[in-house]
Amino acid sequence: MKKVISIVGARPNFMKIGPFHKALRQSSLDVKHLICHTGQHYDQNMSKIFFDDFELPSPDFYLGVGSGSHAEQVAKIMMSFEKIVENEKPDLIIVVGDVNSTMAGSLVAAKMGIKVAHIEAGLRSFDRTMPEEINRIVTDSIADYLFVTERSGLVNLKNEGVSSNKIFFVGNIMIDSLVHYLSKASSSLILDRLNLKKQSYLLVTLHRPSNVDDKENLKATAHLLKNLAKSIKIVFPIHPRTKENLEKYGLDATLNHEIEFTEPLGYIDFLCLQKNAEVILTDSGGIQEESTYLGVQCVTMRDNTERPVTVEMGTNHLAGKDVNNVQAKILAVLSGQKKAGKIPELWDGKAANRIVNYLSDLL
Ligand code: UD1
Repeated sequence: MKKVISIVGARPNFMKIGPFHKALRQSSLDVKHLICHTGQHYDQNMSKIFFDDFELPSPDFYLGVGSGSHAEQVAKIMMSFEKIVENEKPDLIIVVGDVNSTMAGSLVAAKMGIKVAHIEAGLRSFDRTMPEEINRIVTDSIADYLFVTERSGLVNLKNEGVSSNKIFFVGNIMIDSLVHYLSKASSSLILDRLNLKKQSYLLVTLHRPSNVDDKENLKATAHLLKNLAKSIKIVFPIHPRTKENLEKYGLDATLNHEIEFTEPLGYIDFLCLQKNAEVILTDSGGIQEESTYLGVQCVTMRDNTERPVTVEMGTNHLAGKDVNNVQAKILAVLSGQKKAGKIPELWDGKAANRIVNYLSDLL
């Protein structure tokens, strides 16, 4: 029997490992799959809720690293994970996405001579001020198998000199979760709970350090949201980083009257909110993709995206970080300037099966 350890740690990892775990269990492969949770995210609604949503077993290992500087977080993960790898001697380590846990896990694997596979490889924003871009570059440069979600990833990896026999175009595993849980999301009670009508609200998620850590930027964003609230109802499930900073800079009190803030939501409720939004404002990576699959208009408050297919083919509008441009883009969408959008290639709910099929040869 072969042994595979998957490492996860932060919210956007869980919807990617859920389908992989299920596909592996349903396959005929003789594999023991162990899950290691680093504890990068630890609050109930940033972590545990997703294990329930995605029907994942409790993690086999919990490292409890918690928050900290990037160096601290990565170092703690590496030190603890190294011991687990030493004891377990897996045949393969799986990392997903682009968070600190992804890079830390792949470094341990590579240093210990264990094969490592990266799911969601090849994405590039070409913006090295983003912590995730560093994580993506490091992980892809040492991974043995690279599973790619969109064609831009194939081009990026080729340009970086990655040999083509390590690269597998499998589609988007996060969309596997979306496809699987979409009907369940229709029975979510979140719209009633928040007193919302379908296609009548702007759904906001903003948490990137470049948007929410700097006081002046956050002030400008708060002003933008106040302005937009005159045109449309706003719902904002708020990330702990953003909440902390709004409070720190004294910006929360004025916004509380204009905006429906909620705690971070579970997957099913959030999917329901995405599906029924008139428009979404985000700086997340995954939401750009989910909205494209759902055909919902998404305005991305960033200067670049590592997921260009969502702009070229999907319903994503890249608005930049200037709040005036963002406001103009949202108002344009509300006045009917919408993108038709198509679902990208291989975003069909079967990416995890393709990965497992490849692994049956690679393991
Ligand atoms: C991390 C990822 C980012 C991803 C995001 C999704 C990195 C470099 N960044 O950013 O790519 O888009 O997760 O959420 O890996 N906190 C809590 N409870 C938690 C977790 C965090 O309160 O369960 C607070 C802490 O104050 C912490 C802050 O949020 O300092 C930021 O958490 P951290 O994990 O450092 O980065 P994220 O901003 O969540």
